[in-house]
Amino acid sequence: AKGAAMVTAVAYRLTEQSRQIQQTLAEFRLSKAQLLEVKKRMRAEIERGLKKETHKEAAVKMLPTFVRSTPDGTENGDFLALDLGGTNFRVLLVKIRSGKRRTVEMHNKIYAIPLEVMQGTGDELFDHIVHCISDFLDYMGMKSARLPLGFTFSFPCHQTSLDAGILVTWTKGFKATDCEGENVVELLREAIKRKEEFELDVVAIVNDTVGTMMTCAYEEPTCEVGLIAGTGSNACYMEEMKNIEIVEGNEGRMCVNMEWGAFGDNGCLDDIRTQYDQAVDENSLNEGKQRYEKMCSGMYLGEIVRQILIDLTKRGFLFRGQISETLKTRGIFETKFLSQIESDRLALLQVRAILQQLGLDSTCDDSIIVKEVCGTVSRRAAQICGAGMAAVVDKIRENRGLDHLDVTVGVDGTLYKLHPHFSRIFLQTVKELAPKCDVNFLLSEDGSGKGAALITAVGFRQRELDAQ
Ligand code: GLC
Repeated sequence: AKGAAMVTAVAYRLTEQSRQIQQTLAEFRLSKAQLLEVKKRMRAEIERGLKKETHKEAAVKMLPTFVRSTPDGTENGDFLALDLGGTNFRVLLVKIRSGKRRTVEMHNKIYAIPLEVMQGTGDELFDHIVHCISDFLDYMGMKSARLPLGFTFSFPCHQTSLDAGILVTWTKGFKATDCEGENVVELLREAIKRKEEFELDVVAIVNDTVGTMMTCAYEEPTCEVGLIAGTGSNACYMEEMKNIEIVEGNEGRMCVNMEWGAFGDNGCLDDIRTQYDQAVDENSLNEGKQRYEKMCSGMYLGEIVRQILIDLTKRGFLFRGQISETLKTRGIFETKFLSQIESDRLALLQVRAILQQLGLDSTCDDSIIVKEVCGTVSRRAAQICGAGMAAVVDKIRENRGLDHLDVTVGVDGTLYKLHPHFSRIFLQTVKELAPKCDVNFLLSEDGSGKGAALITAVGFRQRELDAQ
């Protein structure tokens, strides 16, 4: 009888434990009504960003990009492109040929940006960038060419023309001093001058979402939206000029860089943010900023997981109640690890092996819980990202007075491309929340490089025309 009582006690403890774990995770499981609410709020924030009276204090900035049309196939020439702000920093040479057989040929090199440069002074950052360009031009044997350059700079910039962008604020892991409030194109031009080795013609500054949209639009003209679900999260789309109140003119359309990562910075998502989201925010380089991005992008998903695991361990439900040094380390769960842990092809033993690699000693039960935590966090990410996208496509549909819209979205980003479930749940959510839109998603191949070159080609041609 004593044995039986003990078994009952253990079983009770187990069910009580799993009840508490489920209760913790329940906050991350959003109902359709909640997701519709997220969509509705995103829509309201879009309007605030577009309107002249509310633009200044709006959280979702809706930044004009001065890209007025998608490519038409007549783009031509050799261009240099820089890609700063994603997983890697790259320099590219892009050769675009128009005519019957359109081709785009690319050469690129990846360069590391050391942490101390990302978070050093602005001059150091731009000197480093120019140093990499110099190395690349040597490598390609093109130092004397004075090529037109497109700068994919994946941060919020206030643009007043295609080739001027004032950095609003750093996001993701960057924090170099003396850049916010400055025109980053000028910072780049000055650094090129300082080097006195080569000349370049900086024609365009481009957000990665815009580059992605343009790259896909080059193949598929119905592409009028760009999405990045990677280190950061953001979208752009073709908005009616008459709705972009901070830019003169009412004719035609312009691509707007939404900077939707900042959605919620005014508190409008507080009811769905959990204590773990708050902890991630408090631990970040930019507290209070990019709250939506911190719930749905690759740079932060692992951090949310880590915060939950710390809490569950403290409560004695995981890792024998022992918080290891590893678990205290910021950034251990990169997107690629989450993707591995959540892969359906992986046996639990392999999950344990991954955790072991990270320095976490797990039991079989631990690994089950860790996997469930990861799945719950990434599902919510895909769903709220889908709710944001549903707001965008419905906005385009309404702009055009349509009952039904067919549209293509160009997509890039490590989370979208690597994660085993993110894209599926994301697509399903968009479909459910925007039933009047048929949305086709097109993966972009190298949007940041190719797109920047395409935009540069259009800008370069326009300038030549204007000069005549
Ligand atoms: C961050 C940046 C944004 C970029 C996104 C994806 O949200 O602020 O400009 O598009 O990351 O890289």
